[in-house]
Amino acid sequence: MVGVLASDKGPVVCDAGGDVAEAWGRKWRPLLSSLGVSGKAGESVLIPTNGTINAQMLVLVGLGQESDETSVRRAAGVAARSVPNAASVAIALPTDTPALVDAVTQGHLLGGYTYTSHKSTPPKDAASSGPGDVVVLSPIARRAEAVTAFEEAQVLADAVRLTRDWVNEPPGHLTPEGFAAAVSRAHRAATKGRGAPKVVLEIWDHTTLTERGLGGTLAVGNGSAATPRLAKLTYSPKDATTHLALVGKGVTFDSGGLTIKPSSSMVGMKGDMGGAACVVAATLAIARLGLPIKVTTFAPMAENMISGSSFRPGDVVTMYGGTTVEIANTDAEGRMLLGDALVLATEETPDVIVDVATLTGHLQLALGDKVGAVLGTQEIVDAVLAAGARAGEQHWQMPIPEEMSERIKASPVADLLQHDWVRWGGGLMAAAFLREFTAGLPWAHLDIAGKEINTGGPYGHVPSGGTGFGVTTIVEYAKSLAAPSPPA
Ligand code: BES
Ligand code: ZN
Ligand code: MN
Repeated sequence: MVGVLASDKGPVVCDAGGDVAEAWGRKWRPLLSSLGVSGKAGESVLIPTNGTINAQMLVLVGLGQESDETSVRRAAGVAARSVPNAASVAIALPTDTPALVDAVTQGHLLGGYTYTSHKSTPPKDAASSGPGDVVVLSPIARRAEAVTAFEEAQVLADAVRLTRDWVNEPPGHLTPEGFAAAVSRAHRAATKGRGAPKVVLEIWDHTTLTERGLGGTLAVGNGSAATPRLAKLTYSPKDATTHLALVGKGVTFDSGGLTIKPSSSMVGMKGDMGGAACVVAATLAIARLGLPIKVTTFAPMAENMISGSSFRPGDVVTMYGGTTVEIANTDAEGRMLLGDALVLATEETPDVIVDVATLTGHLQLALGDKVGAVLGTQEIVDAVLAAGARAGEQHWQMPIPEEMSERIKASPVADLLQHDWVRWGGGLMAAAFLREFTAGLPWAHLDIAGKEINTGGPYGHVPSGGTGFGVTTIVEYAKSLAAPSPPA
């Protein structure tokens, strides 16, 4: 795979691919022009080599005008998808810094992702176990930082792929119980063997949740035959300097409950556990990377269904910690799970709390399906935005205006009002609601609704279906806590 830059003077093979161009000699330029290679982003052209170089197939992949981390990550993803069955590939893309090595490796491993668990015969064009062996040709390959970047990229890609698998899993399979079991398996895989990190996993079942009084989670799960669960992970290395608490929304299917969703809005609601999947996978990645921070992660899981035992509009629910909430809309269920879990997080006295949730269609409407919303304490929001930029994800700050505090306190019967049927600002009101459960600790809320599943065609390193959105941002943010960068 060779990167091609688009320039005013036509396509230019990137430095790393110089040898390949040389092998074709004088026939190279005419070949590019007859194939219509332009170097624009998203382009990939397959050329059978017929022995010209030591590979059966040459993939020319467009980088666009730029050869930065974002463009090489995307190009590597496009290239991987164009040869899904290659047993081994060598990649010649710009990789003269560790960050570029990381981006190319991640792009390749993520672009080659497919989900075929439920195909009785996996389609021919789908790799069964993801991309095969990969060699990244880099001028700095001998430097320790490059090797580290290559290895860390594989850990990150594993975490994103795990998140995608969980989001893609059908809701009848990935019930709260099934999700908890899947988390146990992933935890075991990440922590077994010599040199593996120590992470403590607890799964709280329905009885434990009842005993401890996680009223919000229990209320949401009440209408479902599949009872709620909560996964708690603790990674506490000896050299930890900072303590990060993570919380993720794990609604395994969101029908809306009695405030039932219109049919078309219910499609894709198997991905409503994307926040929980993200924080769990990110926690395991942080541990595998051995980052010197403590991480405590809470992933409450419930299915929002309709039955004679569903929670109702008008109900008053006592959350974990004692706050009472008047229910107005059973489709605003995510905040009920998150409220419980945020209070649990505060009890760990962390330095900072970050939650990730597919929380509101409002912020999907505002920011689209590729840009996440971040709300909360300014300092944490800034750090998360910076982490996102380094991680190759787009996030944008949204405010929590003062008047939202009035909206969430407008209940005549309970401490908080869950929802008020005012159509505007719903995502901001949701954040104000969550803030009530953070005990004033530094906190950021990532609303990733619509980002967890790509309903369109694949682009760059992102396939259709589960995207794994949020994972790289969270791990990058954890890295920044582990090694605070000096003020600019
Ligand atoms: N799970 C949805 C949010 C969502 C929307 C996720 C689109 C992914 C894609 C959430 O539980 C929900 O139903 N939110 C309501 C909020 C409202 C009732 C305040 C919504 O979006 O309408
Ligand atoms: Zn939901
Ligand atoms: Mn909902």
